[in-house]
This record gives sequence, structure tokens and C-alpha cells, in this order.
Amino acid sequence: TMAEKSFKYVIVGGGVSAGYAAREFSKQGVKPGELAIISKEAVAPYERPALSKAYLFPQGTARLPGFHVCVGSGGERLLPEWYTEKGIELILSTEIVKADLASKTLVSAAGEVFKYQVLVIATGSTVIKLTDFGVQGADAKNILYLREIDDADKLVEVIKAKKSGKAVIVGGGYIGLELSAALRMNDIDVSMVYPEPWCMPRLFTAGIAAFYEGYYANKGVEIIKGTVAVGFTADANGEVKEVKLKDGRVLEADIVVVGVGGRPLTSLFKGQVEEEKGGIKTDAFFKTSVPDVYAIGDVATFPMKLYNEIRRVEHVDHARKSAEQAVKAIKASEEGKTIDEYDYLPFFYSRSFDLSWQFYGDNVGDAVLFGDNDAASPTHKFGSYWIKDGKVVGAFLEGGTPEENKAIAKVARVQPPVDNLDLLTKEGIGFASKI
Ligand code: FDA
Ligand code: NAD
Repeated sequence: TMAEKSFKYVIVGGGVSAGYAAREFSKQGVKPGELAIISKEAVAPYERPALSKAYLFPQGTARLPGFHVCVGSGGERLLPEWYTEKGIELILSTEIVKADLASKTLVSAAGEVFKYQVLVIATGSTVIKLTDFGVQGADAKNILYLREIDDADKLVEVIKAKKSGKAVIVGGGYIGLELSAALRMNDIDVSMVYPEPWCMPRLFTAGIAAFYEGYYANKGVEIIKGTVAVGFTADANGEVKEVKLKDGRVLEADIVVVGVGGRPLTSLFKGQVEEEKGGIKTDAFFKTSVPDVYAIGDVATFPMKLYNEIRRVEHVDHARKSAEQAVKAIKASEEGKTIDEYDYLPFFYSRSFDLSWQFYGDNVGDAVLFGDNDAASPTHKFGSYWIKDGKVVGAFLEGGTPEENKAIAKVARVQPPVDNLDLLTKEGIGFASKI
């Protein structure tokens, strides 16, 4: 039988939030041997956003150890040695397959047993697969997904093998838009397929989407909207050859990349902890319904104070900040102290080709578009405000300077009143800059 290992703190999951939690533990003071990170991945925590961007670029390619946390937020890069120096045990290539919160025990796939006093759940999300809903032929080779570094390596390999080939991207969300661009930059012929009338419908208005669709079209990406992939055919090697669409069209494909959404990894804890909105329910300190158990990052459904609502957020800024909040709360509670409640302002961003946008706040209410959103314009810069109950509650900006991005963040936080939407359209970014 294998020896049991025991730690004061265990973080299960070794992604973005785990890495930022480790840094915060170290800042707050953790003794050698007190903290362990247990991760299914073979590498130390890294900035996941790089996988759909520079990791795939033909030039200026990013590789580890270049993008370990916390470089994505301008912080120190935590190399594997950093964990060793701090006495933080990094237990890699180790999947936890069983969690018993009552006895404070975790069991790995290899049968190792881990005990903890305080558990931080940081398992993140996994991809929704087309095989999950039985799409015919969806298990063919070269139908790829992207979540972890192994997936990215597989993609890099297939991009090399299928030079100047054809790719079909299924999904018009974050993965769809970022991967279409990355593959196009690799000289691959790209078609994008998604069911909605415009891309990124969770966030974009029709006006915002029109710019990106125009820009992508100019870059040679073919966009096919309002339909879905219903089947795939493969060649004699089992490699994907064709994508069959619901509208009857058939597309040739050497590579298929699927980005049809994520699913938070909560199944280890099913029935043991309260859940809500698909995630593990927490308070403003990321404490779950079970004593000494915290949940951070993608898996946490937490109170969003600003909107008086509980929500889950699947973005890196929240992964970082929730990790820091939870660790501060854990340390404070040991000293009988309290800290301020989490007061999160949603921040999402994306980059593709030479484009870059940021969004802050809430995309509810009336949207007004401002600026130059002509996809063919070399000086394009545009944005959108969302107005609810006479106040600006959200702001989006493409191509903003650091100062302008700061200004839209401030607007979303301050929620200034507006009565004249036409004026807002005319003022554009100027409105935010004077808040
Ligand atoms: P994360 O997924 O980072 O980490 C979870 C970790 O837990 C993984 O290492 C996993 O292997 C491990 N794990 C899971 N189950 C386990 C088990 N049972 N045992 C052991 N280990 C287990 N956001 C953004 O704002 N801007 C961006 O540009 C991007 N770009 C981007 C690109 C790509 C390709 C992806 C997939 C995602 C993004 N995101 C993003 C989203 C962002 O990366 C995401 O919200 C954070 O990584 C969430 O951090 P977590 O720590 O919660 O999960
Ligand atoms: P997403 O939710 O952003 O987009 C999924 C898209 O797929 C939507 O447009 C959806 O309607 C569409 N879709 C659903 N079913 C479909 C079908 N059968 N055929 C075609 N399209 C279908 O999810 P994603 O792009 O897969 O991203 C996965 C996760 O990674 C998310 O948590 C996301 O936040 C994260 N991520 C974030 C960033 C970023 O913030 N820049 C970048 C990459 C990934």
C-alpha cells in the first residue's frame, strides 16, 4: 500500500488560480511542507490564455517556461524551482479521482492518498465535446479541442503535418475566434461554423460582431453562420476529411477545431457541497458550504457584489483575483481577522491578428456603438457602452490605449448617469476619458 501524504493546505488543480493562490500563500507566509498543489497536468501553473495565442503563432512562438504564472499580470514568473525553494510541493501528472470532504481525503488515479486540513478546489473547466451529444463521426482523428498544454501540443503537431491544408472551426465564441486567427496565421485555409446570427453572442452586439466578421473575412476566413456540424467523414487512416453541416453543405477539412463551450469540473464533489449555476457555491471569501473547503476560478459561483447577484466567471482575471481573495481569507481566519468582501468588476479580453479588445462591467440594457468600426479602415477604433436604468454599466473597446482601457474600466465601476444616448455615441471614448 502507498504511504499517505498529509498537508495543511491542498490545492486540487494546477492551473491559473492554483498558481496565483500559491504566490499569495507564499506572500502571506507558508512553512515548508504545509502546501501542496496536485495537478493532472505535467507542468507547473502557467498562463492558460497563451495556449490559444502565441503558443500557436508561426513567429514569436511562446513556449514554457516562458509563460508560467504570474507573468500574465506583470508579476514574477514562478518556475518549478520557485515551488521547491518555498517548500511548496508540486505534485504533477496526478489526477484526483476521488474526494471525500467528510474525511478530508483525496485519492489519485494511481491510488495515492492525500489528507488536508484546508482544501482549495481549483479544477477549472473542461471542454464540451461533440461526442458528448453524439455527433456522428466526431471521434475521427484531427478533430481537436483546446484546454490544456497537451491539447496545444497536439494542435501544433497537426498544424505542421497539414501545412497549407484546410481547417474547419466549429463554434463562434472565444476559442472559435482566437483559433481561426491562429490557424490562418499558419497559412491554413479556415472556415468557421456557428449556429448564431453573429459571433460571440454572449458578449458582442450585432454591431460589434459585424466588425470582427468583416475583419476576419478580409483575412481570408470564411464564416458560415446559422448552422451546425452534424457529422464528419474520415479517410482510411481514420483522419477527418469532411464536415457535414445541418444545412446540407459539406466542407473539406484536414483539421477540425471545436470550441463549443466549457463545463466546470465539479463532479468530484457532487452531492458533498452546495452547487449553483453549474458551479460550487461560495461566499464573498470563496468559502463553500463545507467547512475548510474553498473554491476558486472557473468552478466558483460567487456573489457579484456590484450586481447583487451570484455568478460564475470563466476568465483569467477572476481566476487570479479569486485565488488571492481566498488565500487572504484563509490566512485571516486563522488569525481571527476578517477581510473585505470580494467586490469584482468583470473584465474580459481577447486578442487575435492585430486586434485587441477589452470589456468591463455588465453587457445588459441598451447598447450604443461608437467610433470607427469599418473593418477595412486602417485606423479603426470603436467601442460600445451598455446603459441600464439611466446608468452606464458596461463598456467595450477595440484597439484602446492603456489609458483608454483604464477609462472604460472606471466607467463600468463608477456607473455614471447618462440621459442622452445620441450624445454618448458622439462623445465615444471621450465620455469615458473624462470620468
Ligand atoms: P484552469 O483550467 O486554469 O486550471 C485547472 C487545473 O486543474 C488544470 O491544470 C487541470 O488539469 C487541473 N485539474 C482538473 N481536474 C483535476 C483533477 N481531478 N485532479 C488534478 N488536477 C485537476 N480568459 C481570459 O480572460 N482571457 C483570455 O485570453 C483567455 N484565453 C484562454 C485560452 C484558452 C485556450 C482557454 C482554455 C481559456 C482561456 N481563458 C481566457 C480562460 C481562463 O484561462 C480560465 O478562466 C482560467 O484558466 C481559469 O482558471 P482555473 O484555475 O479556474 O482553471
Ligand atoms: P464559448 O462559450 O465562448 O463559445 C462557444 C460557442 O460555440 C458559442 O458561440 C456557441 O453558441 C457555439 N456553439 C454551441 N454549440 C455549437 C455547435 N453544436 N456547433 C457550433 N457552434 C456551437 O466557449 P469556447 O469558445 O469553447 O471557450 C471555452 C472556455 O474557454 C470558456 O470558458 C471561455 O471563457 C474560455 N476562453 C476564454 C478566452 C478569452 O477570454 N479570451 C479565450 C479562449 C477560451
